[in-house]
Amino acid sequence: MTISMILRSQIVGSGSYLPSRIVTNAELASKVDTSDDWIVERTGIRQRHIAADGETTSDLATIAAERALASAGLKGSDVDLLIVATATPDNTFPATATKVQSRLGMTGGAAFDMQAVCSGFIFAMATADNFIKAEQARTALVIGAETFSRILDWEDRGTCVLFGDGAGAMVLRGSWEKGGNQDRGILSTHLHSDGRHYGLLHVDGGPSSTQTVGHLRMEGKEVFRHAVTNLAQVVGEALRANDLSAADIDWVVPHQANRRILESTAKKLGLSMDRMVVTVDQHANTSAASIPLAFHSAVSDGRLNKGDLVVMEAMGGGFTWGSALVRL
Ligand code: UT7
Repeated sequence: MTISMILRSQIVGSGSYLPSRIVTNAELASKVDTSDDWIVERTGIRQRHIAADGETTSDLATIAAERALASAGLKGSDVDLLIVATATPDNTFPATATKVQSRLGMTGGAAFDMQAVCSGFIFAMATADNFIKAEQARTALVIGAETFSRILDWEDRGTCVLFGDGAGAMVLRGSWEKGGNQDRGILSTHLHSDGRHYGLLHVDGGPSSTQTVGHLRMEGKEVFRHAVTNLAQVVGEALRANDLSAADIDWVVPHQANRRILESTAKKLGLSMDRMVVTVDQHANTSAASIPLAFHSAVSDGRLNKGDLVVMEAMGGGFTWGSALVRL
């Protein structure tokens, strides 16, 4: 009898970094027409971290990556694929990933950026997983890093209270497994985009359009509505693809945009909120960084453990959305 083994990408390390400066809702309320009550009630956010002057996305990414490598017991030179998911690169080019690559002492393999805004980490994970499964990489470092404070309109209370800066990283390694939903590693990824909604969440600048960096603009209510529908759909898709049901999920590690989105998604899936890892209160929406930030916080406090079935999901500008179903 022949046993067919399959290659899975396992999460063997994680790390995160938040800039030291914390801006509370009360501090924001002294600058724009808002209040701690409104922000907490409508979003669940209590504070955000803001990068220091001169502190860039690559700085945040490098620290998160070093911590993830240390937790995996690996060095930069062990990595043969590095992906930085970001919508706020240091420069228009080269890729922020190449700067991080040189700082980590990774001289071989490939490093590039991934742009899917708040879904960026899921898109980067899916890409790394496919590289590993195709045996084009063995050890991938996947980073989500953002300095959204640089693209916010600090006079627009509808958006400036929602976002923060930060970075998170995971190390993925290929491992031959039996096949099936009891394997440890990424069981599936599902990605979607629908460019008809380009204008609902965008930055009104860029090198080819205005030659300025621009500011984030969002039709919040519309984004909210699509988010709940798409996130529940993409989690259902992941469960069906693996012959699993919502009752099998140990933890959801969602993109952290708004606590109310998490509550509505949990309700649609029939999951209780105590299965959701929630960190949005601590760092607001950090776009591509939010999933690895939440993941690492739940690993560190002992909530996530070996063998747990974890679904990660995100939705962002484009629109883009996706999920990764992982057995730890
Ligand atoms: O990462 C993925 C992308 N982002 C998201 O997923 C965000 C999705 N959207 C949301 O989270 C929510 O739509 C928001 C938090 C952005 C807004 O919440 P909402 O319940 O949809 O509020 P709203 O936009 O309908 O505004 C309600 C009221 C308005 O006043 P009027 O017109 O009722 O008098 C706003 O002007 O709240 C007002 N408002 C504020 N008030 C105090 C909007 N922003 C603020 C604020 N402080 N910061």
